[in-house]
Amino acid sequence: MSKETTRNKTYWLETYGCQMNKAESGFLEYELQERGWSQAGSPAEAEVVVLNTCSVRKTAEDRIWGRLGFFKAEKKRHAFRLVVMGCMSERLKQEILDDAPQVDLLVGNFQKHRLVDVLEHGDEAPVADRSSNRRSPHHRSVHQEAHLVDPGEYRFAERHSLSGFQAFLPIMHGCDNFCTYCIVPYVRGSEVSRSPESIIEEIRRLQSPTDDPTRQVVREITLLGQNVNSYSYREGDRTIVSFSELLRRVVPILQDKTWLRFLTSHPKDMSVELIELIAAETALCRHIHLPVQHGSDRILEAMGRKYTRGHYLALVEKIRKTIPEVSLTTDILIGFPGETEEDYRLTLELMKEVRFDDAFTYRYNPREGTKAFELGDDVPEAVKQERLSGVIELQRRISRAGKRRKLGTVVEVLVEGVSKKSSAELLARTEGDEMVVFPGSPDRIGSFVRVRLKPLEGSTLRGEPIGE
Ligand code: SAM
Ligand code: SF4
Ligand code: F3S
Repeated sequence: MSKETTRNKTYWLETYGCQMNKAESGFLEYELQERGWSQAGSPAEAEVVVLNTCSVRKTAEDRIWGRLGFFKAEKKRHAFRLVVMGCMSERLKQEILDDAPQVDLLVGNFQKHRLVDVLEHGDEAPVADRSSNRRSPHHRSVHQEAHLVDPGEYRFAERHSLSGFQAFLPIMHGCDNFCTYCIVPYVRGSEVSRSPESIIEEIRRLQSPTDDPTRQVVREITLLGQNVNSYSYREGDRTIVSFSELLRRVVPILQDKTWLRFLTSHPKDMSVELIELIAAETALCRHIHLPVQHGSDRILEAMGRKYTRGHYLALVEKIRKTIPEVSLTTDILIGFPGETEEDYRLTLELMKEVRFDDAFTYRYNPREGTKAFELGDDVPEAVKQERLSGVIELQRRISRAGKRRKLGTVVEVLVEGVSKKSSAELLARTEGDEMVVFPGSPDRIGSFVRVRLKPLEGSTLRGEPIGE
């Protein structure tokens, strides 16, 4: 890096994938800005371009390959350093080293916290840095060693956001579940839980009063983990802090009105204790994202989900009985190897029975290295697409009917921004994770507003602010 570019200290950061990646990007931005870096107005003005990547599906990786092509062309126009970080640098590090010479630095998930040091003192690069030592086997092996370090060494950052009224805090990292289709345990390593002390300290810091008029009051905190229900932290010699216990410690320290959310819950680990806690604590949002993935026991077993359809339905019943106003969302994965029409039908049936408020729906995509990869990919793409469309259409109908039932009621929403369709309207989210559009001025962004729900337009919930 030349002296001149070092002084420049501008970055462009693109984040792909899940909330965990977004939180880690938040930490990176915090670090960069603490050390005097500023965000460039466009990639063309940046000294460093960082792509924080995702490997969960081929489509996610294809987008990154596309961006790598774009930045390859950009490199012919001006000089900058290109960094690929995150899950794709774990899964495809060799391919990136071999096929993307435009990439200067590869940073895996266990080295993200070192990136700013590496950018500022490139010669001590503990990651694969080909600008200082082009493709030297030494650097590659250092990267691979780093990749192979005990995943327990994942280092949680202490801060994950610069500003804003919504904060995403990782409370654990990795996953021990090894669902047979999923790459996450391979790119994130085994589960490790962050200490309650560090989580509480970050929340206190986020909500501490400040003289900085640009800093917004934090109104919503989302605790993150691939399976938050298996959060488990050993304190001292004996005490194990469970997820419910962690929540019990977090709730009393929240300042003013703050919504507390968490993602993601695994149906095999969701405890009655947690369900009862959500019912009892008003700070905990009445929303549970509970990925079911499939409605057929045969497929659930082949997916390694470790629960049955019956278990899931009983869990939903318990949740709805204990928290009647709860909103339930899910993930559905269609086209797993061996999926028959009957399996598909069972999934539709389950959706009709549960009546999810919303669902994220995916088409199975084989990931090399996972167990399911060895099963082949025998559901033809056209069939997967047809079934996926069926699932999406059914969910749309269920969601709309659910929304219609709420019309006329008054709900509290947190205003997130200005509507894309009209600058005179605001976009806000309910406790149940539903979006509502209503007229208002942007100075309400980041505050709670009570709105009465009005008739739907398309599938958009509209509201009218109360008391105006
Ligand atoms: N930990 C969460 C859980 O257990 O539900 C999910 C994490 S994963 C990043 C998000 C979603 O991606 C999964 O729920 C699954 O539906 C989907 N997914 C994972 N692997 C996939 C694959 N190989 N093809 C398509 N979708 C996949
Ligand atoms: Fe992937 Fe399953 Fe872990 Fe979720 S629980 S991250 S789907 S292996
Ligand atoms: Fe993607 Fe990695 Fe998250 S693979 S979904 S960014 S854990």
